[in-house]
Amino acid sequence: MPIAVVTGANRGIGSEWVNQLLENGWTVYAGYRKNLDKLENFSNSNLFIHQLDVQSNQSVIDFCNQVEGPIDLLVNNAGVGDGRWQKLEDIDDKWSLDVLDINAIGPVRMVQALYEKMSHDKLTKVAMISSLMGSIDDCKSGRSYAYRASKSALNMFTAAMKNEALENNITFAILHPGWVKTGMGGSMAPVTMPESVNGMMKVLESQTLENSGRFIQYDGEILPW
Ligand SMILES: NC(=O)c1ccc[n+]([C@@H]2O[C@H](COP(=O)([O-])OP(=O)(O)OC[C@H]3O[C@@H](n4cnc5c(N)ncnc54)[C@H](OP(=O)(O)O)[C@@H]3O)[C@@H](O)[C@H]2O)c1
Repeated sequence: MPIAVVTGANRGIGSEWVNQLLENGWTVYAGYRKNLDKLENFSNSNLFIHQLDVQSNQSVIDFCNQVEGPIDLLVNNAGVGDGRWQKLEDIDDKWSLDVLDINAIGPVRMVQALYEKMSHDKLTKVAMISSLMGSIDDCKSGRSYAYRASKSALNMFTAAMKNEALENNITFAILHPGWVKTGMGGSMAPVTMPESVNGMMKVLESQTLENSGRFIQYDGEILPW
């Protein structure tokens, strides 16, 4: 039975990852930061739930120590918005650093802490849940300053890490889930959580060592950097 780890699994896109992975027969280690939320509704002996704040080194280590490898899939999904600041003068430097820490460094902490458990003969896939808003080419409207910067930084961390991981059979997909109806995406978003996660799972099926590091959206479209 394949083993997956999902961060930010208590609500939104993360809880849908848990749902679809369990339905497909995976064993899932799910991290929640504060509240169990939707994780309380699952009744499945293949689900292991532990507290996880990706901003804290100690929390990441404690969580990852409880994961029994070898791991086949890591979904780095946890993320935060930046308050949708509308003007340059609104940018809050302290919160900007938190957004960068959670969205860009958090996934790196997870990769570091799980690296040995992901290094084995079989291919391990790492899904970095990024955003089209991290695309510099696509940044037409500006704003969402720290959020955009955090996802661009996540993309670059991934591009910079991927070569070292090849010899350990680890491949990275930088995924844009679409504009999805969640607490973050809002009710106007055109894509539902099941559509988004189903699409990302299909994209991951075609993930290989050769295409590691591609920036790709849930429906398979390759995105500009
Ligand atoms: N929705 C969209 O349209 C969209 C578009 C592009 C990319 N994304 C990306 O997709 C991912 C999921 O977004 P979503 O729409 O599902 O957002 P969401 O509904 O706001 O859920 C975010 C999840 O991340 C968790 N989280 C936040 N900070 C954390 C931390 N320090 N440690 C651990 N968990 C933390 C939250 O936990 P708490 O409940 O404790 O806050 C929550 O479970 C994010 O990376 C987001 O940037 C979303």
